[in-house]
Amino acid sequence: MLCQTIVFLTEDASHDAAIDLINEEAFGPGRLVRAAERVREQGPHDRALSYVAADGGEIIASVRMTPVLAGTESCHLLGPLAVRPSHKNRGIGRELVRIALAAAAKTPSRAVLLVGDAPYYGPLGFSPTRPGALTLPGPFDPARLLAACFDGLEADQLEGEIRHRNRA
Ligand SMILES: CC(C)(COP(=O)(O)OP(=O)(O)OC[C@H]1O[C@@H](n2cnc3c(N)ncnc32)[C@H](O)[C@@H]1OP(=O)(O)O)[C@@H](O)C(=O)NCCC(=O)NCCS
Repeated sequence: MLCQTIVFLTEDASHDAAIDLINEEAFGPGRLVRAAERVREQGPHDRALSYVAADGGEIIASVRMTPVLAGTESCHLLGPLAVRPSHKNRGIGRELVRIALAAAAKTPSRAVLLVGDAPYYGPLGFSPTRPGALTLPGPFDPARLLAACFDGLEADQLEGEIRHRNRA
């Protein structure tokens, strides 16, 4: 159950240092070599669709969204998603994903993509993409490339190169 003291805020620059620490704690230095990170390095994330959770003024979780193209479709790439160990298993991660998805659905974005665990993201609306249909600038497990689509698009219809929209 969500703790009553947790508030969810749209990310702004004042959160950057705390978010860096949360992601370092959650993923370690290995995060910087992942294929999704290669896309995030191609351009800025979208702060208006990125959220933090705060407990008593302390930032304890974060989700970021990056504007990408998947082939010709405008999409967002979700991640990193991380919750501090002290606050895990309270529904905060799921709530951040729900908020980010709902915000993206109000934009022209056709889908939200991520590389992650299907058992966690499936109940939040994410489905497997077609293995081999989508590429990232680095190796990844195709079974972990998931998408939540809007407006009648299906995850297995997505194909092409996933890249930052700045690389269009
Ligand atoms: C994964 C993470 C974001 C989940 O955040 P959280 O706020 O603890 O998660 P929630 O409270 O919303 O959900 C907890 C549930 O998800 C399950 N869960 C957590 N991680 C999971 C995973 N990788 N795969 C499947 N289920 C998972 C928990 O077992 C728990 O299940 P329950 O409700 O049946 O008890 C958090 O554990 C984290 O920061 N992990 C390290 C970074 C990471 O792996 N990020 C995701 C990258 S894809």
